[in-house]
Amino acid sequence: MKRAIVPGTFDPITAGHVDVIKRASLIFDDVVVAVAASVKKNPLFDQETRVRLCKEATAEFANVRVISFDGLLVDLARDYDAHAVVKGLRAITDFEYEFQMTALNYELNRNLETFFIMSPPKYMYLSSSIVREMASMGGSLTGFVPACVEKELRAHFSEAYALAEKHGSTNIK
Ligand code: PNS
Repeated sequence: MKRAIVPGTFDPITAGHVDVIKRASLIFDDVVVAVAASVKKNPLFDQETRVRLCKEATAEFANVRVISFDGLLVDLARDYDAHAVVKGLRAITDFEYEFQMTALNYELNRNLETFFIMSPPKYMYLSSSIVREMASMGGSLTGFVPACVEKELRAHFSEAYALAEKHGSTNIK
């Protein structure tokens, strides 16, 4: 049984995250999406909501489950008997942080390998923070996030969307 953990803050889960999870599910037998508390990042959505959205967004993948965690990734991997961590890698800006985390986790647990799945060009620029920013200004989210996340963001930023609708759509494709 090859089990991988896909960790993240997922605030909220984006189409880029779903792409990574889907591709991991094709390689590993069991994929555990681990939603970190990430209290220091002061997330927009609480951990329970982020878990629910991840579950809805990945419901179609039979070998994927979603859990919440608060602690070290290496401890989670030990508890779940996982020997692989899978992360998405976008532009060069991701590299330094991911390099540091991977090196640190390797020092803490030599049996834990980190694998990176490169983002396809269409998701290279996509991040949860950019999605939050667009939503806060009533911007179109189509194609950037799963439908359940779009619904949640539109409800959260209902005033911004009402205003955007009043002044005409921001989707000018
Ligand atoms: O989506 P993010 O915010 O880039 O995910 C970061 C995450 C949750 C994967 C990372 O912060 C993490 O692994 N947190 C758990 C705590 C930990 O193990 N930190 C590294 C050693 S100090």
